[in-house]
Amino acid sequence: MLIDGRRMRTIWPAGDGAVEIIDQRLLPHRLVTARLTRLAEFVAAIADMQVRGAPLIGITAAYGLAAALRVDPSDRAVAEARTALLAARPTAVNLAWALERVARRIAPAPNQRRAAAAFSEASTMADEDVQSCRHIGEAGARLLTDLAARKNGDLNLLTHCNAGWLATVDWGTALAPVYVAAEQGLNLHVWVDETRPRNQGAGLTAFELGQQGVDHTIIVDNAGGHLMQHGRVDVVIVGADRVTRTGDAANKIGTYLKALAAHDTGVPFYVAVPTSTIDWTLSDGLAAIPIEERDGREVTHMVGTDAAGALTEVRIAAPGSAAANYAFDVTPARLITGFITERGVCAPGELAALLCDVEVPA
Ligand code: MRU
Repeated sequence: MLIDGRRMRTIWPAGDGAVEIIDQRLLPHRLVTARLTRLAEFVAAIADMQVRGAPLIGITAAYGLAAALRVDPSDRAVAEARTALLAARPTAVNLAWALERVARRIAPAPNQRRAAAAFSEASTMADEDVQSCRHIGEAGARLLTDLAARKNGDLNLLTHCNAGWLATVDWGTALAPVYVAAEQGLNLHVWVDETRPRNQGAGLTAFELGQQGVDHTIIVDNAGGHLMQHGRVDVVIVGADRVTRTGDAANKIGTYLKALAAHDTGVPFYVAVPTSTIDWTLSDGLAAIPIEERDGREVTHMVGTDAAGALTEVRIAAPGSAAANYAFDVTPARLITGFITERGVCAPGELAALLCDVEVPA
């Protein structure tokens, strides 16, 4: 998608086994790229959220494993690198999915060919992610066009966190339908939840919508229910970090409350995901999906720019208070109207049938 009119992806090969990424911690204030070469840099980029969003985390981890193999291609090194990358962020299943796929690809290769094979697989996965997201966009755009036709007017969509192109390699998941529908001439307006504590909505979603020229308004996280009660939201679309085979979906903290409000007010609530976000081994999301807990400092402090444009961190809570920082919650399948996938749209109970020929990792 576009930044300042220039087509970009979130991650791209940079020669000699390295990749470049957009450092998302600095958006929307500065567009800075970073070069990742060593395994430790990949692990830190994921853990510190230079890159974030389930699909992008997966692709970054795949390249990270390739980087580790340039140093040591042994089975032991593969296992150690996988453990380090997996521990970087626990909720998004795309991480495990991507590492498993690269490991399978390199297993039969002789040691001297492993790094190249891993890098090539990571690049293939990056391209496939772009294709999947474009297909999610096309399936979701049909849905939005139908909703707009029934409404007979402009469509108001609400989204939480950032599940746009910055969370994937390109196009996004929840925002891909918006971009494709906008391309097709549909008039849309997006309510953007600010998404505390890290403000991925205010900082990333609003930024990328603005860069693509999509009409949007930032709201505080608690405003969604009010807007739904007053008929000002026609549809909610969010992404997910892990979806069980029964259709429970883990996504950024606060998603569950949006789903409850949508259910109460009769607003359709969709979750947009590529197949790589489905964890076929799990059925009970609430009991089984690991929920990442991050540093309480993300709650007690905020980062932004001051009047002179300098990046500054400010404390917003009194010193001494404890802060809990649960990064994700689980929305049960019963509150989800449907999933928008690269294969089309389906009800939660139809996921397994829609994707029955997808290869399920052991
Ligand atoms: O903590 P983040 O910014 O990685 O959380 C991202 C989300 O919760 C997204 O909604 C999810 O990963 C889907 S991304 C297409």
